[in-house]
Amino acid sequence: MSGFADRLIRWQKRHGRHDLPWQRTQDPYPVWLSEIMLQQTQVATVVPYYERFLGRFPTVAALAAAPVEQVMELWSGLGYYARARNLHACAREVMATHGGEFPRAPAALAELPGIGRSTANAIAAFCFGARMPILDGNVKRVLCRCLGIEGSPGTAALESRLWRHAEELLPSCDLPAYIQGQMDLGATVCTRARPRCEICPLAGTCIAHRENRVAELPTPRPR
Ligand code: ADE
Repeated sequence: MSGFADRLIRWQKRHGRHDLPWQRTQDPYPVWLSEIMLQQTQVATVVPYYERFLGRFPTVAALAAAPVEQVMELWSGLGYYARARNLHACAREVMATHGGEFPRAPAALAELPGIGRSTANAIAAFCFGARMPILDGNVKRVLCRCLGIEGSPGTAALESRLWRHAEELLPSCDLPAYIQGQMDLGATVCTRARPRCEICPLAGTCIAHRENRVAELPTPRPR
């Protein structure tokens, strides 16, 4: 898959999203807030919540000092409310055990409430220049299709296989553009239903596209 990262980075620079509010900063507090909100919610829905949240809680200290009820109220309408509880718990832990500064190491970030391995790596890459892969739902779909990977989603075997591929495909530079490109491609081109292969920068080497199996991959969850 040589060229995978190069094509994705070039595509992101020309066609990806560059004007999202959390892309204007490398401060881990707003970047973390955006990543938590974006975990299960689309960009267009997140933007106004993100702005309101930062308006009310401009710093991690302000968020930690607020009663949890206030946080829940501001989150109301975004759904997946465990995210809001974890958000508040995470802010308190950053204050209590990290002196009010988000840790820079991905492994330390991933120990905080609500931050999994992929979100920890995204924060570390966007804010601290770490060279770490992400693997959210969008990226898993792109990898399963491009590499023609079958398997049951959610199984440990498939997860570890995908992490290994994600590590191998990492470019040596331009990490933030690469990560943003993966997110943008998964959200706007390599979508679950009706993907737009005709404009995809990866179609030339995509195994699912070549074998006409885009609709079959990733393998649906058994039900
Ligand atoms: N989804 C998850 N993280 C994102 C980000 N930083 N930009 C756009 N979509 C995302």
